[in-house]
Parts: sequence; C-alpha cells; structure tokens
Amino acid sequence: MAIVFDEKSKVFFLTTSNTEYQMKINEYGMLLHTYYGSPVGKTDMSFLIKEVDRGFSGNTYEGRNRRGVSPDTLPLEYGTYGAGDFRVNAVGVILDNGSRTLDLRYKSHVVIEGKNELENLPYVRGEKDSVSTLEIILEDKTALIEASLIYSVFDKKDIITRSVVIKNVSDNPIRLTKAASMSVDLLHKKMDLIHFHGRHAMERQHERVSLTHDIHVVGSKRGTSSHHNNPFVILCDHDATENHGECYGFMLMYSGNHAEEIEVDQAGSIRVVSGIGSEGFSWLLNKNDSFVTPEVIMAYTDGGLNELSYLYHRIILENICPKEFRDVKRPVLINNWEGTYFSFNEKSILEIIDAAHDAGIEMFVLDDGWFGKRDDDNSGLGDWFVNDKKLPGGIKSIADHADSLGMKFGLWFEPEMVNEDSDLFRNHPDWALRDPDRAPVMGRNQLVLDMSRKEVVDYIYESMTKVIDSAKLSYIKWDYNRSMANIYSNALPADRQGETAHRFMLGTYDLLSRIRKNYPHIMIEGCSGGGGRFDAGMLFYSPQIWCSDNSEAINRLKIQKGTGYGYPISTMGAHVSASPNHQNGRVVPFRTRAIVAMSGTFGYELDPRKLTNDEKDEIKKEISIFNRYYDLIQRGRYYRISDEETEKYFTSWQFVSMDKKEALLSLVVTDVRANPEIPYVKLCGLDPYGEYEIDNIFSSVDDVPAEAGIMLKEEKVKATYSGNALMNGGLALDPLYGVYPSVQIHLKKV
Ligand code: GLA
Repeated sequence: MAIVFDEKSKVFFLTTSNTEYQMKINEYGMLLHTYYGSPVGKTDMSFLIKEVDRGFSGNTYEGRNRRGVSPDTLPLEYGTYGAGDFRVNAVGVILDNGSRTLDLRYKSHVVIEGKNELENLPYVRGEKDSVSTLEIILEDKTALIEASLIYSVFDKKDIITRSVVIKNVSDNPIRLTKAASMSVDLLHKKMDLIHFHGRHAMERQHERVSLTHDIHVVGSKRGTSSHHNNPFVILCDHDATENHGECYGFMLMYSGNHAEEIEVDQAGSIRVVSGIGSEGFSWLLNKNDSFVTPEVIMAYTDGGLNELSYLYHRIILENICPKEFRDVKRPVLINNWEGTYFSFNEKSILEIIDAAHDAGIEMFVLDDGWFGKRDDDNSGLGDWFVNDKKLPGGIKSIADHADSLGMKFGLWFEPEMVNEDSDLFRNHPDWALRDPDRAPVMGRNQLVLDMSRKEVVDYIYESMTKVIDSAKLSYIKWDYNRSMANIYSNALPADRQGETAHRFMLGTYDLLSRIRKNYPHIMIEGCSGGGGRFDAGMLFYSPQIWCSDNSEAINRLKIQKGTGYGYPISTMGAHVSASPNHQNGRVVPFRTRAIVAMSGTFGYELDPRKLTNDEKDEIKKEISIFNRYYDLIQRGRYYRISDEETEKYFTSWQFVSMDKKEALLSLVVTDVRANPEIPYVKLCGLDPYGEYEIDNIFSSVDDVPAEAGIMLKEEKVKATYSGNALMNGGLALDPLYGVYPSVQIHLKKV
C-alpha cells in the first residue's frame, strides 16, 4: 500500500519504491510534515522534531504551557497567516469581518485508489492500479474554511503530486489572497537551490546558489510561466552532482503567474512553498464556493541530478503529454519563419515545400503571416481567416501540395492575442484585457484577449476550427507573444479583478482542451516567443514546445541543457537554422547545428530554396541519422555528462536505450584551444559488465574523415570496452580543432 495511516501514532506514510513522505497529526490537530527522503522502514520519523522553546515563537492557546510547541517552529504541511507561524505562508484569506487569521487543523481524511482530475486544469494522469490518492481535510472552525490537501502517490515512479481545494463553508463571503499548491518544511537541511532563469531567446539558464537565511522567490508576474523564471526548482545537497547526492524537485503544473518561495528559518529548516503567484491575485469565495489550485509534482532521489531529471522525464512522457503522440514517430519538420519571415506568397511557399521535400524533410509548417492583414507584426492578430491576396488557393492548396508529396502540414496560430488593427478589435474592443481608463501597455504592438470570457473563447474556437477544417492539418504551432499587463477584464466586477489572470489561464486551458478533444490527431507545439511558456501545464496539451527563439546551436547548448533538468528531450522543439545565425550572428558548422538540434524534436528553420545540392544531401544524411537513433534519443535515458567546469571547454551529453544495448554520446567544443587537454568523457548508465563497441561516428570535422578526430580510430572497428571501463575510465577523444567542432558517437553492445 502506497498510503497508510496509523491510527495510533496518527502518522500518514506515503511510500514509493525509493522514497518516503510522512506527516503526523499532533495532539492539537496540527498537520506536521515529519519526513521526505530515502526509505526509513516503518519508523515514525516524528522523533526528529525537538521541542525547543524559542523566544518570540508563540504557542497556540491550548498549548500555552508547552512552550516548545510553536506553530512558528513546527514543520507544517500547509502554513497559514496569523496563527503564530511567521514563515512564508501557503494561504492567505480576508474574512468577512476583516480578519486575516487562518488556523487550519485536521478534520478527516480519505484514501482512494487512482488519481483525481483537476477541474478545468491540467493534471498528472494516472491509472487506477498505479497511483493512490490521499485527501486530508483541514478546517478552521472559527472562519469556517476547509482546505483539502490532496496527495497522489505514483509509487513505481517515485513521484508525489499535490494540490489543494479551498472551500468556504461559512455563510459569508471570504476573499483568498494567496492559495499555494503546496508547502513543505524540510528539517535542518543545508542545501543549494537550483533554478532556471532567463530572458527572451535565452531561456532556462541554470543557476545554483547556496541557501541563506532569507526568502528566495522564483516567480513570474507576466501572466505566463515566462522565459524569466521557470516554475521548476531543485533543492540539493551542497555536494550533490549529476550522479550523486540528495535532490528534491518541485515542479508547478501551471502556465500563468507563479511563485516558488524558499525560506531558511531561524532554526535552519527549509520551507518550500509553490503555487500561483499571489501578487495581484485575489479570489472571492461565496458560500460553498471552492478554489482549486494547480498541481505540484514532487520528486526526491539520493542519486543525483541526472536521476532526478529522469523521474520528471518519465512522469511527463507517460502521465502528462497527450498519449496520442507518445509512441508515434514525429515528423522532421521545416518551419518557414526564419526562412521568409512575413515575405511570402503562395508561389514561394510551394517552392519551399518542393525544396524541403527534395532534402527529405517530412513536414512543412507555415508560420506567422498567412491570415488577416498581416504583413508585419503590427496588425491582423485575431482575424483567423486566410489572406487570399498572399494565398489565393487558401490553406488548402498548400496543405494539398504537401500531401501530394507525402509531406505533412502544420500551421501557426496565436489564439490569445489581438492587434488594435484587426477586424476583431474594431468589432470588440472590450475583448482585450485592458484598463478602461488608461492607454494600454503594448507588447509587440498587440493586446492580450480576455480569455476569462466564454464568448471570447467560443469565438476564437470557431474561427480556428474553420481554418482547421479547411485543410488537412497535422500540427498547430500555438504561439503567445507578449507579457500581460493592465490585467483587467471588462466583464468582471471590481471586486473580482484579482481573478482575471487565473481565469485567463482557465479560458486558455479550455480552448486547448476543446481543440485537443475535437482534433486529437493534430499535434500542438506550444510556443511563447520560443520558450516563454515551457511548463508541465502546457505539456498536458502539447507534447512539444518550441524551446527558444534563439536557434543558434552554441547558445542552445545551455538553453536545452537547462530545459532538460525538468523536461524530456522529446518536448524540446529544436531546429537547424541558417548560418550566420539570425539571433547572434555566430557561424557554426552545419553538422554541429544538426547534432545540437537532434537532441530535441529536430527540424529545420531556413529557406531550403537557398540550399546547394550538397547541403540538401547533408540534410538527407542528418535526417537519416536522426531517424536511425529516434527511439534512443526520444525514449532513451538522457544524461548530462559535462559539468560547469568542463563546459569552459566542451559540452557533452548522452542517451542510453532502456535496455542499455546502445548509447549515443554527443560533444561540442565551445572553446577550441592550441595544445589542448585531452577530452576525457566518462559515460553514464551503461551495463557495467556489458561490452560495447563504437558503431558509428558523425562529426563536424569534415575536412578530414569524420573518424580522424577520434582517438582509437585504428582500434575502433575491433575494440570493445566494458561498460565499467567507459563509465569509470571514460573515452579519450582526440582534441577537436576548427570552428565549434562536434562529434556524435554511437556505441552498441556486442
Ligand atoms: C514567435 C515565435 C517564432 C515565430 C514568431 C512569429 O516569436 O517564437 O518562432 O513563430 O513568433 O511571429
């Protein structure tokens, strides 16, 4: 049983194959967090809590004579404001009488087999026999508010999800000012925080800091999960590495405003709170109304960061992404954005399709500019009907042309946006999110639609489906290209404006669900100016997300590596684009660009009409390599090999098939040196006693045979290496010279 409650000790045991999570109801009905970590047998871990009287940490009234028992020092499962806990709280309320105090105590609990579904929100899917769910209802008997803490335990996957439902059971309205999805107190740990910050075109940069006695907040107020701070944080031992040490992950499954707050308290315990960002948020709950928070996915391992990533990759692939695309090979695509931007017409698009087909590409995606009056990015958004001046045959003739060549076809939309210069805005100016009394903040000269309104969602749904129904579509690129400001709905009363941002997300999720439901065969690739909405919430609807508007391979090494800490390789949209690169002007060899893009969904983003025949042949070769290793890359285990120190010289990473019969090592030199060190690369995840041989080498070093850059060239055909030799000694590569040289080495078990 993954969930057990011991009546006598009042302890909840949540047990997975390799982790244990415990809570205890104390004598005052407070729900304490007593343990999260490696298995501990059946031991009640509450012995770890010591009663220490700390000055200015007060007591509950009934416990006033036991000064060592304070809401401010006890590890709590869901901290509240006003009841003596002065740390970061998980929930905030304003009662009808103005009081802000909330004091939640245990009321009841229930265990069910299977997994709860969240109302109107994405959630981790679960089969009945693989997950159990515990609901603990806490209540404030004075305020008459209940909070149901919901835990789903995926025992074989070492994952626990959490969400909360807050219900007003009083007769009076109350206002929520904060409603986090989880809070946890990790006792007396000294840990580092790893988080993924960034900016447009430089998303998910890895940053690791040692926690100090203050509150770190990782969050977004931009209306989306953002390029700037991903809703995924890791806490790990100071000495944890990729392959060793304790690590905790907390991933919020939400695409809007969020906050991950991490506080080291006076006694050295760490509190982690994760949920919808509370700045600008409020939610009115009338009698019997409930508020459902998004879900948080928690994971723990003592096996290092690569292992933690694996736990997230597996749950996302198997329980979050739409299952229709799990086991089918996705086509290698070409997108015309960097190839043409807005300058195209039917003739040029048909030529592009032909040229792409010549190069062996499997799907064509028509990006921005096909609709309304859209010749640049100042007009047309919202008018989802084809621009027949540019495309007289409509979307159909393009889709048909691709189809006639055996290629699939995809189309770009930006459903949640509107330009002032559009028919939609002229007809419905109040459908944009904007403060009626002031000029709006603009972003890319566009406004955000008020997706909190059902009529807006209905309208966009109808206009999208007209286009979708007009042609044979296999794919939609779903974009979102500005931060939200002036978050004000013209349809909500004044006292509900704090609900707008979350209601917007509910509307967007509703639109995504409707499209998914009615067109289950169409794959959605999420996008928000690249990876501005790269989160587990979007992955519930779209199994891949355009990772970044920065398609330059060397910058991409860091972007894709940062993304891979939480998200699987098959979710990362990655394309080979032209060189010099359009975002930073860097020149990188074709093959290095391909080796980097292959560690993603793989495609091209350039004008294939400009390719020479040799380049087309090269693309054919790259596609055949990618397709050959497709299962290994998309379904194998991914390991980061290089660390920050090594990466001053080169970056390397690796895939291993689940049966350990083959592996693929990639390495890109980012700082070529004269008289350099030998790149020693220790592999991961192989069968220690298996024997492996190098089966294929694919390298950018093309002025000499590809193999020439690899030491052991002579022996490569005959030599075999034990898994242990490759993992403990490593491969010794010859230094690679030239401009951003790279190599991809395929190993197979003999
Ligand atoms: C965003 C996307 C790009 C492209 C443009 C089109 O920036 O990330 O890939 O689709 O919009 O306007």
